[in-house]
Amino acid sequence: MKKRVFSGVQPSGALTLGNYLGAIRNFVELQHEADCFFCVVDLHSLTVPQDPVVLKENIKNTARLFVAAGIDPEVSTIFVQSQVPAHAELSWLLECHTYIGELKRMTQFKDKAQKQEVVTTGLLTYPVLMAADILLYNTDLVPVGEDQKQHLEITRDLAVRVNNRFQEEVFKVPEPYIPPRSKGGRIMSLTDPLEKMSKSSPNPKSYIALLDPPEVIKKKIMSAVTDSEAVIRYDEEAKPAISNLLVIYSLCSGQSIEAITEQYASTGYGQFKKDLAELVIETLRPLQEKVKTLSAPGAIERILEAGAEKARAAAAPHLRRFQEKLGLR
Ligand code: TYM
Repeated sequence: MKKRVFSGVQPSGALTLGNYLGAIRNFVELQHEADCFFCVVDLHSLTVPQDPVVLKENIKNTARLFVAAGIDPEVSTIFVQSQVPAHAELSWLLECHTYIGELKRMTQFKDKAQKQEVVTTGLLTYPVLMAADILLYNTDLVPVGEDQKQHLEITRDLAVRVNNRFQEEVFKVPEPYIPPRSKGGRIMSLTDPLEKMSKSSPNPKSYIALLDPPEVIKKKIMSAVTDSEAVIRYDEEAKPAISNLLVIYSLCSGQSIEAITEQYASTGYGQFKKDLAELVIETLRPLQEKVKTLSAPGAIERILEAGAEKARAAAAPHLRRFQEKLGLR
């Protein structure tokens, strides 16, 4: 039996090199050994205000980027969360097993709530919907970046809580698949290496969007912050900026960090950054070429319709089992 993999990406604006190196790249690899479901989590994006017209485009563009990055819709199931109502249904059933305290303690909730004037309930219950996404598919493995670790922990807690209540395995307890930082688990901002690279940053220089044109990528990398000691060395604590660039270099070239530091031992940051810019441009080039072919009318819609049908069928028995346990059927 192949392992079941599930992961989701929010359709909130441009996807970044962080999303790619921390998560999507691993989706592409895992699809050859596992039975994969990759979801555009549009319901999650509603926890902050969205322009409906822009959101509609972003949903399709995120799915196009999945395919352009190498997720094969013939092999993996690609779909949009809101097209499978079982996500919202299971989320409610799980909310009735979740404590307010554990949601209020989530670091992402605390961070986001602080930055907003009004805090909706959706922002608080966001991790429960994420747990529903995962548990609905009997998932073994969830490939994500480091920032999702706490959400994976609460998903596991909820699965165990429900299983304990009924004294049997209602839900499979999923395992996180999080790369270490040196392998892309947390790609940092180019302007502040203590912050993670994020598409919601107001400063576009802080991130590389997957569809940034080559000259923009070059500019952003050349102006990335480094430190005053012009020595290329991997040290997350003392040299977070150059360490982050080394991780990106390593993942885009396939070379080890040691080999790269050796190669640039006698050059300064300038040559290193120039070469890094070329590497990132070449890494993203195939994706940028492919995405253009997916803009034909109906192309992505057909993939998403077929994906939603498969997802609905895969989710149904797991929702039903829990409903039956609860006395709802
Ligand atoms: P989202 O949309 O913020 O990010 C999508 C994926 O990209 C990873 N990621 C990063 N990895 C490394 N470095 C970075 N700078 C970086 N930025 C983002 C994220 O960890 C994630 O894997 N809550 C999720 C979406 C979600 C989900 C799910 C994921 C909803 N339901 C079920 C897995 C399973 C989120 O907001 O990801």
